[in-house]
Amino acid sequence: MSETKPLIEVDNLKVHFPIRGNSFLGGTVGHVKAVDGVGFTIGQGETLGLVGESGSGKTTVGRALLRAIPATDGSLIFNTEDGPVDLRALKTGALRSFRRNMQLIFQDPYSSLNPRMTVRDIIAEPLECLNWGTREEIDNRVREIARRCKMNVEHLRRFPHAFSGGQRQRICIARALAANPRFIVCDESVSALDVSIQAEILNLLMDLQEEFGFTYLFIAHDLSVVAQIATRVAVMYVGKFMEMAPSAALFETPRHPYTKALLSAIPTVDPDIPFDPIHLTGEIPNPADPPPGCRFQTRCPYANAQCRGDEPLWRDVARDHWVACHHAEAIADGSHGVQDQAVAAE
Ligand SMILES: Nc1ncnc2c1ncn2[C@@H]1O[C@H](COP(=O)(O)OP(=O)(O)OP(=O)(O)O)[C@@H](O)[C@H]1O
Ligand SMILES: [Mg+2]
Repeated sequence: MSETKPLIEVDNLKVHFPIRGNSFLGGTVGHVKAVDGVGFTIGQGETLGLVGESGSGKTTVGRALLRAIPATDGSLIFNTEDGPVDLRALKTGALRSFRRNMQLIFQDPYSSLNPRMTVRDIIAEPLECLNWGTREEIDNRVREIARRCKMNVEHLRRFPHAFSGGQRQRICIARALAANPRFIVCDESVSALDVSIQAEILNLLMDLQEEFGFTYLFIAHDLSVVAQIATRVAVMYVGKFMEMAPSAALFETPRHPYTKALLSAIPTVDPDIPFDPIHLTGEIPNPADPPPGCRFQTRCPYANAQCRGDEPLWRDVARDHWVACHHAEAIADGSHGVQDQAVAAE
C-alpha cells in the first residue's frame, strides 16, 4: 500500500432516517437528514476531530463509518495493505471479519461495561468473538493490553463497579484496542470525565497512537478537548461540514462564522484576554427540513440574500483548509462591514 494513501476516504456520505407517519398504513412522511453529503479523509495514524452542537450528525457519521448503521448514499473506503475495501459493499460474513479493524469507544464508561463480568472477561470478549487464540493466548493478550493502558493487572479479577470513571474508561479503551484495530471512533469518550481525568485519558490515547499507529476519529462537542488531541478538525452543522482544517489553522484563523462562534465560547485562562462569547441566536434548524441556501443562515450574523438563496460550495481557501461560506475571505481578514454591506445591498 502506498504510504501516502489515507486510511479512510469518505465521499458524499449521506445518512437519512425515514420518518414514519402516524396513519394506520404508516408510510414514510419525510427524512431526518442526519448526515447530508460530507466528504473527508483520515490519514494513517492521524486524529481527525469532529465537533458541532448536539444533533449536528457527529455520532451518525461515526456509526456509518463503522457500518453500525447503513449509509443512504456516498462511498466509504478503508485502505488496507491488500488494497482498498469498499465498506458499503461488505456482505455480512466479510463485514464480521473486517470489523476487527474498526472499533468504537463510547462516551459513558458506566453503562457500556457489563456489571456482571470481570474486567478480564470484558477485555477478552472481543478476542473470544474473533477466535483470537487459546485461553492462555487470550489471557496473555488481556494482560499485555491492560499494562499498555496503565491498568493494574491485579484488578483484572474485579468487577467494573469497583472502579472510578477514569479507570472504567481505561477498561473500555483496553477492550476496544485488544484485537489491535487500525481505526477507532472515539465518540465523546472523555466528555463524562473530570478535566484532570480527561487529560490522563487523552494522553493515554495519544501514547497508544504513537506506539501502535492507531487512526482516530475523535468526536466531541467540546472544542478545547479536541484541540488537545486532533491533527485536523472538522466542524459539523445540521448534517454538513462547515469547515475543516489542520488544528492550528482552525483555532488561529477560523473562516466560518459558526467555527468562530464555537471558539468564542471556550473560556480563556488568561485574565488579560476578555471572554466575549458570540451568542448564537435562534434555534438549530430541524435536519428533516433544513433552511434553503446555507444551513447556518438562520443564525449567522453575516447572512445576506446570497446566503438565503445559494448553498455555499465546499471549497479550499488555504492549504488543506476547507470551508462552506460565501463570506470566508471577509471573515478571515476581519472586515466586519460584511453584515452592514450585505444588509445595505438587499
Ligand atoms: N436512528 C435514528 N432515527 C432517526 N433519527 C435519528 C437517529 N439517530 C439520530 N437521529 C437524528 O439525527 C440527527 C443527528 O444525530 P446525532 O446523534 O448523529 O448527532 P450528534 O452530533 O452526535 O449529537 P450529540 O452531540 O447530541 O451526540 C439528530 O437530529 C437525531 O435526532
Ligand atoms: Mg453524538
